[in-house]
Amino acid sequence: MPHTKKSNILITIFGATGDLTARKLLPALANLYSEDYLPENSKVIALGRRDFDDISYLHFVKSKNKKPGNLQLLTDFLVYKKIDILDHDQYKELSRFLDELGDENSVRLFYLAVAPDLFIPIASNLATSQIVQNGANHHLLAFEKPFGTDLKSAKEINKVLQGYFTEKQIFRIDHYLGKEMIQNLLTVRFANRILESTWNNQHIDRVKIYAKEDEGILDRGSYYDDNGALRDVIQNHLLQIVSLIALETPASLNSEDIKAEKVKVLEKIRVDYSSSLLGQYQGYRHEKNVKPDSETETMAFIKLYVDTPLFEGVPFYLFTGKKLDEKRASIEISFKQTKLQQLNRIQGESDKLIIDISPESIVKLMINGKEPGFEHKLSQVGLEYCYSCQFPNNVKEAYEKLFIDMFKHSKTLFTRWDEIELAWKVIDDIKANVKLSLRYQDTSEVMERIRALNDENL
Ligand code: BG6
Repeated sequence: MPHTKKSNILITIFGATGDLTARKLLPALANLYSEDYLPENSKVIALGRRDFDDISYLHFVKSKNKKPGNLQLLTDFLVYKKIDILDHDQYKELSRFLDELGDENSVRLFYLAVAPDLFIPIASNLATSQIVQNGANHHLLAFEKPFGTDLKSAKEINKVLQGYFTEKQIFRIDHYLGKEMIQNLLTVRFANRILESTWNNQHIDRVKIYAKEDEGILDRGSYYDDNGALRDVIQNHLLQIVSLIALETPASLNSEDIKAEKVKVLEKIRVDYSSSLLGQYQGYRHEKNVKPDSETETMAFIKLYVDTPLFEGVPFYLFTGKKLDEKRASIEISFKQTKLQQLNRIQGESDKLIIDISPESIVKLMINGKEPGFEHKLSQVGLEYCYSCQFPNNVKEAYEKLFIDMFKHSKTLFTRWDEIELAWKVIDDIKANVKLSLRYQDTSEVMERIRALNDENL
């Protein structure tokens, strides 16, 4: 339902010239605006260091997007403001500026789409200049992932935030949680008896979670080189998916009950370091703002186990990377073979549940059937439900959903501090135990190494 509240919303984005703001946040806000989800007089204030005015900034945003979509609508409510975000004195002016755009009832959301080392200075400036008041439920802060660069830095950030704001005001973003198919995961699992009853190590043989990308690092060299695939995607998006797949049945599907179970999974992750692989695409060291001797991984393949009674012994294969063969994110859950298959008395591949996250949103169950004809030949067929085909305009961009939920104070699709803390422990250990060992030209080279470390069928 479109928003009906009278008071306006002021969305202030730190990191106006970053790829995330131009390619994801502003298109999402333009879509919400077009569908009437933002109350009248709402404004988006993009903050950056460069010399733009509102019009030249909008041109810049458009130049970063291949498709124009609803971007033209931003003319109505997008404002660009130049600021040095590290200079405390300039926040007085920002405060006056925001006061002019709204009143004391305006919802104020501050979105930090910046590198994690800027979280503490920006949050401190917002708090000490009284722009964001401690405990004011209509003053909200969103922190884009990664939340820190390791466990130590994440703890420091969290401590500072907790000193200035209440937990209710803080949203830790992981946009994968806003994706339709990730939200659908628990529904598929817990609302279908045939899946619920086979969702354990008696029946599941292996789980693959892939998030491949064909593009390189675009204009994000300085951010990416400090982070790499482990911090950029595995720590958040893919470990979140692991925890949703492996969690025990929660008491209910409410946010806190689910998080309580996700945390138990993250606590029990055990990585198989010798079967994992980190690689870097050739040419990466020549990218803008990348160190010429960089050892940052642009591809990560991680094999891990979740040592809980439900999933003990089931390998999880996580794979992400830049400059691979395609942009595709999907989950593949392979079931064990049947008794007759194990005895070699009937052929056929093992059943699979495939959840395609993007570019299409599809749930597919692959099962064996007899091919028509006189001979008894088997083939695998897919029972498929394609969300994105069935509801072409209704599969929302993840960030649209996340904005709506922040305005509604709903925390379900945001990560809790203890989840982040445990995920960093996993990543810190991987970083200490797995070193970059491949410079790849293409995906086949990567797959060859992965198969050599694991098994032929991957
Ligand atoms: C972001 C990462 O969180 O996710 C990017 O920082 C990555 O490096 C992106 O490209 C992938 O998300 P999506 O929604 O485009 O598949």
